[in-house]
Amino acid sequence: MSTQFAVRGGSLPHPPHRLPVLGDVVGVDPRTPVQDSTAMARTLGPLFERHILGRRFVFAAGADVVGELCDEKRFEKFLPPGVENLRDIGADGLFTAYNHEPNWQRAHDLLRPAFTAGAMRGYHEIMVDVADDLIEHWEFLSRNASPTDVSADMTTLTLETIGRTGFSYSFGSFARAEPHPFVSAMVGALTYNQRRALLKVPAFAKPLFARSDRRYAGNKQYLADVLADVVRTRRRSTEDFSDLLQIMMDAACEADNPNALSEANIGCQILTFLIAGHETTSGALSFALYYLATHPEVFERARAEVDEVWGTGKPEFGQVPKLRYVRRVLDESLRLWPTVPAFGRGARADTVVGDGYAMAAGDWAIVLATALHRDPVWGDRPHEFDPDNFLPDRIKARPAHVYKPFGTGERACIGRQFAIHEAVLVLGTILQRFDLQADPSYRLKVQERLTMMPTGFRVQPTVRQ
Ligand code: HEM
Repeated sequence: MSTQFAVRGGSLPHPPHRLPVLGDVVGVDPRTPVQDSTAMARTLGPLFERHILGRRFVFAAGADVVGELCDEKRFEKFLPPGVENLRDIGADGLFTAYNHEPNWQRAHDLLRPAFTAGAMRGYHEIMVDVADDLIEHWEFLSRNASPTDVSADMTTLTLETIGRTGFSYSFGSFARAEPHPFVSAMVGALTYNQRRALLKVPAFAKPLFARSDRRYAGNKQYLADVLADVVRTRRRSTEDFSDLLQIMMDAACEADNPNALSEANIGCQILTFLIAGHETTSGALSFALYYLATHPEVFERARAEVDEVWGTGKPEFGQVPKLRYVRRVLDESLRLWPTVPAFGRGARADTVVGDGYAMAAGDWAIVLATALHRDPVWGDRPHEFDPDNFLPDRIKARPAHVYKPFGTGERACIGRQFAIHEAVLVLGTILQRFDLQADPSYRLKVQERLTMMPTGFRVQPTVRQ
């Protein structure tokens, strides 16, 4: 349960202009809480706090203090308000479950084998098929000299990939002129819950928010309808399946399976995977493409690697991890813009962190990965894009726990291998086939909706000669 006061002991640095009731809101934008907090970390230091409309948020931004918070013996996952609000959709699904909820362990044990490095072999062909759909779409854009919105296309691609690999369910995304309505319903629901995390609406002010509440209810209903359709489609089918959905459905029919999940919980897991399994990878791909399109020397080096390792054919499963430089481009993009920019850590017992801040059992802090990834351990120019930050020697030279795009500990991302295989495969495919021309006047603008996503970034893909 969220406690009102994250860290009770000691006082923490905070922004200078604190207002009564409103708190630390001077100069901040409700649409960019993560970017604002990341900027504040530069002056406020490794551990600081913000009061926002009666809520206290403690942010851990420095390598040392984050290292402490990542110690699984002392800390565990905590659901900060933005994530806890999402329980309204995900309930005790993997992402939003409290640590003590039995369905977390059951679903983790049941689905973990489907996410090992080896298990990726089973998803490879589908990922290649979806990348082919993107190629076809971009070839059309190339013929028509028509620029495209990168984040929208990457979202289409990743939603289709998780739909087809996890649930053998196609959203038919590439056949649509507009993004699938699942995407806008999901973005609406994530944004609503992020904003509500900052704002406790008093009873007398509720009517002011009636419209956004109604819109949220509509989005939630739409997500539930998609979920029902996924299950209905499976029940009607007579084919054999071996995907995530089938693993859960088969276990549910085995009376003695300790990891059997209820029908309601299977529903939560489906929505969790449909959302967590595409939104984050889509952002990662979009940021990586932004850096590739705006750093010609990096683009050429990455393309040379693809030509050498893949040639002109479609990649075999084993050829994907051989794109070491492309992988570094992805890692570096996730360093500068971790698409899950923050995660919560709660104290298991009374303890002290940093320079003597006391935390009682249950107190929590938010690890701000965007700030951690710009800590001085990353060198003199941590804001610059440099894929060589991920050369093996440089990785070895850095302390542990300074790179956390996939969270930490036993609640770290279950889909990490999946995301990396998919993203490297797609980046390699694009480099192999297309030249990318970005608008030179574009300046990176990042939209926050619990996750991070470039906005307004368009490229003209041109089939490579
Ligand atoms: C670049 C892409 C991705 C990033 C940056 C990312 C990041 C994260 C992070 C930071 C967490 C931990 C959150 C916390 O501690 O509160 C997490 C958890 C999770 N992720 Fe990912 N993720 C990505 C892709 C995926 C994919 C592709 C899937 C599924 C196919 C997935 C499924 C999940 C699930 C189910 C959890 C909850 C795990 C648990 O608590 O047991 N993620 N992810």
